Amino acid sequence: MNKMIIIGVESTAHTFGVGIITKDGKILANVKDSYTSLNAGMIPDEVADHHNTVAEEIREKAFNEARITWGEVDFISYSAGPGLDPALWAGYNIVKSWSEKNGKQLVGVNHCCAHLSIGKLWNKLKDPCYLYVSGVNTQIIVQKEGKYRIMGETLDIGLGNLLDKFGRVVGLGFPAGSKIEELAKKGKYVELPYTVKGMDMSFSGILTKVQQLHGKGVPVEDLCFSLQETCFAMLAEVVERAMAHTGKQELLLVGGVGANKRFCEMLDIMCKERDAVFYKVPMDLAGDQGAMIAWEGFLRKNESGDIEVNPHWRTDEV
Ligand code: ATP
Ligand code: FE2
Repeated sequence: MNKMIIIGVESTAHTFGVGIITKDGKILANVKDSYTSLNAGMIPDEVADHHNTVAEEIREKAFNEARITWGEVDFISYSAGPGLDPALWAGYNIVKSWSEKNGKQLVGVNHCCAHLSIGKLWNKLKDPCYLYVSGVNTQIIVQKEGKYRIMGETLDIGLGNLLDKFGRVVGLGFPAGSKIEELAKKGKYVELPYTVKGMDMSFSGILTKVQQLHGKGVPVEDLCFSLQETCFAMLAEVVERAMAHTGKQELLLVGGVGANKRFCEMLDIMCKERDAVFYKVPMDLAGDQGAMIAWEGFLRKNESGDIEVNPHWRTDEV
């Protein structure tokens, strides 16, 4: 049989996902299950237990949805990093056993690059300016001479992390991004520190400030609204400068925070004002999932293999 199918396994953080993609980029299945917690954020060992518990069920569901068997699979791509050490090892051991049982090669890929590649595939783009905003990562990236270059990034925590930490303080559960988006619709603006430093930005001082304001009784809705307006504006400013500097006329937003409608609206306005075009990815491809890992594996097949895990693997090292 003509092996035209790649399976991708995501396990760097809260999500365990299995995606199935063809070599021409058609997604046949993208099944996932995510660890959640009421008020403790992510406990690394619990995340690993979660992945081990759901792995076989998720794989089976994905294979059934795609109507495939192991015989049709060319190789297994997996997320080797960056991520939480126990979650990465749990994922690696799972794919290792699938690989040995079924005689399939392993291809380890970078999770962050996978977010970029799936967005580029979905929108059929050639060379956009990327804005990658997730839990851990907040980066403005362009490709130059075959490598990713980071033009600006957070100096401390990622924006999603700020939202989730704030959510924990005010009891919204984890992850908190979409709840903050809902509450923000009823909020008014209160001033927060606007911390752009050159092409980089910092979010931890903003977290301290919203915690203080929460302690003083400022309504959670107002804090949600102000958090969004301030942080999204900071990013829009830096991205606009990166686009002006590099002459890029396409902006692609990837990562879980890209699910936020207000964020997309602000970036879209910024792009239109400079005759550029704003692209995003659909909700089911914005956050962590296996299809992006499968596609990145297809792109990197000749340069990667079984590389175990790499918890601190940066995008600009790929
Ligand atoms: P990475 O390893 O790439 O940093 P991640 O593990 O943090 O990724 P993602 O799924 O890309 O995972 O992003 C998750 C983040 O997205 C969480 O911090 C969550 O709060 C945030 N998020 C999800 N939906 C929304 C939303 N509607 N508005 C704002 N943030 C959101
Ligand atoms: Fe991610």
